[in-house]
Amino acid sequence: MDVSGITDPTGLFNANGLVVVITGGGSGLGHAFAATLVRNGAAKVFLLGRRLQVLEQVAKDLNAKVVIPIQCDVADASSVSAAVKTISSQTKYIDVLVNNAGVNGPKHTKLQQAETVEEIAQMMLSEQDLWPQTYAINTTAVVTVAASFLPLLNEGNLRRGWPDGKRTQQKREKVPEGFDENDERTSQIITVASISGFNREVTAGLAYTASKAGAVLLAKSMANFLAPFGIRSNVIAPGRFPSEMTAGGETIFPINKIPHGTQGRFENMAACILSLVGKGGSYYNGDIRVIDGGRLSVMPATY
Ligand SMILES: NC(=O)c1ccc[n+]([C@@H]2O[C@H](COP(=O)([O-])OP(=O)(O)OC[C@H]3O[C@@H](n4cnc5c(N)ncnc54)[C@H](OP(=O)(O)O)[C@@H]3O)[C@@H](O)[C@H]2O)c1
Repeated sequence: MDVSGITDPTGLFNANGLVVVITGGGSGLGHAFAATLVRNGAAKVFLLGRRLQVLEQVAKDLNAKVVIPIQCDVADASSVSAAVKTISSQTKYIDVLVNNAGVNGPKHTKLQQAETVEEIAQMMLSEQDLWPQTYAINTTAVVTVAASFLPLLNEGNLRRGWPDGKRTQQKREKVPEGFDENDERTSQIITVASISGFNREVTAGLAYTASKAGAVLLAKSMANFLAPFGIRSNVIAPGRFPSEMTAGGETIFPINKIPHGTQGRFENMAACILSLVGKGGSYYNGDIRVIDGGRLSVMPATY
């Protein structure tokens, strides 16, 4: 292996010039991704979410010239299509789509404490009305949003000199001016799933667990069927991080719950996203990034 290439982290892991779309970008992890990308050179970061005011505040706080708030409900295909239209009027391409929007859904968190069959049956049947919305946002939207942004992701590839359409070889005839030959990035979809998609102990809810397992498999499938089109698909599977979703919960944990002892920090998620979107991350495709302080290791889980 030729080891003369760059190893300086700022060269390997920056977001210079990237155009990125983040769903659920107004709070929690989406906000953390946006802050990281803006501070590391992203050209444009489009934030999608249902509460426009929340997005506008984040844009104002981070950099209103770079961050563009777009009201969008990812569970509504026509709303996603309208967002794509608005974004297409402001950019000809995107480099990265972060499928991050998510909801908790019905809470079945006390299943392990049930003492009788009747009690556990009642818990399992609770809040059934919330299942469809949980799937719609956490799972179905992963596909809806990815599909809707494919043309812009494809344009991102063309801009970097990659070929158009279905191919059997990923090869550039010529590296366009302004790009390094050793920058082999292709457009990328990052889906934020959860370690809940792997664990057997129900920590959030049954619909949440199932919807996140579905999101993981869909993201893996996208890495397969989008490969001939040069579009990558990777997954971030977080453990516990501060956000609106987890607000008010525990922050300190014993080793048998989270070996690291605490919830994750902004810096942990910043490092994770930069390693995926930076030049050094171009070889990640179909990857699942578990970032959980060791939590999956101390609970019954498949991964
Ligand atoms: N924090 C954790 O510990 C943790 C752990 C594992 C996985 N995750 C995953 O990380 C992702 C981000 O969650 P978070 O923890 O950062 O929670 P959060 O602060 O509640 O963020 C979720 C975001 O998704 C947006 N959203 C929800 N439904 C939407 C919809 N239909 N259309 C558009 N946007 C929608 C929300 O904004 P609006 O309500 O304004 O639309 C909100 O900004 C989720 O997929 C979550 O499952 C989080």
